[in-house]
Amino acid sequence: MKAALYQQWAKDTRKFWDSESEFEAKYRRICSDPEIDSCEDESRLKELWEKRTREELDQLIDGVPIREDWSCLEIGAGIGRLLKPMAQRCHQAVGVDISAKMVSYAENYLADTPNAKVMLNDGMTLSGVEDSSIDFAYSHLAFQHLTMLEVVKSYLAEIHRILKPGGYCRIQCWREAETPIKERFKNILRPILGKTVYHGPRRWLYAPGKEVKFGGITFHPHQWQHLLRKHRLTVTNIQLGMGHEYWMWTTSRKQ
Ligand SMILES: C[S@@+](CC[C@H](N)C(=O)[O-])C[C@H]1O[C@@H](n2cnc3c(N)ncnc32)[C@H](O)[C@@H]1O
Repeated sequence: MKAALYQQWAKDTRKFWDSESEFEAKYRRICSDPEIDSCEDESRLKELWEKRTREELDQLIDGVPIREDWSCLEIGAGIGRLLKPMAQRCHQAVGVDISAKMVSYAENYLADTPNAKVMLNDGMTLSGVEDSSIDFAYSHLAFQHLTMLEVVKSYLAEIHRILKPGGYCRIQCWREAETPIKERFKNILRPILGKTVYHGPRRWLYAPGKEVKFGGITFHPHQWQHLLRKHRLTVTNIQLGMGHEYWMWTTSRKQ
């Protein structure tokens, strides 16, 4: 990837995720949905945060035989929402995140969890994590926001590098959904009218000058499995629509 383009991408991506407060990070970036967005009651918000965390943790560890002596690593860990319960199940739970603000809120959120921490990274590598040192690498609600294919590929290569042989990888990303027929008709006219072609739910790719927002690369299940295999990660399970209509969870293992 061209260095200047990557630097601009990292700067724009950080700007989007660098939330002004822990409240904004939790309820406007990490757990945001129509019910949360319209809720003004703090205790209800806390309840929703905890409920979603429990449900998503169950999806995340589905089929992974986590052991007490394992080292786990999360890509795009935010304030450590999933690392906290994960740390109760393993020896060490470490996360990386592109946003310095998220990392600083994580220090507070994980203050009572000594075997968990979030480290600032460059948004595409796991430098500082030793080769073949991790039993379980995972990512939830982060790959769906990656807006450059090079970044996805870089992370997959890094996951292969840091996993122990036989180590587990579990990633949630957005599945390519078929474009609704109405949108397909509209797409015929859009280029003539000078409008952007609709690519389906949440699909959003980076271009300098374009505002970063929610959304990122979407993958067709075959395309995604092919990419994992190319990075020497053997796919053992793929779950479509678990947790959300467009979520795709995959389990893979280092060969
Ligand atoms: C929706 S939050 C999810 C946080 C956490 N995984 C959770 O489920 O609670 C997405 C996180 O991914 C981080 N992120 C986005 N792009 C990233 C990248 N390229 N590398 C590392 N972190 C990234 C953001 O800063 C943010 O903290």
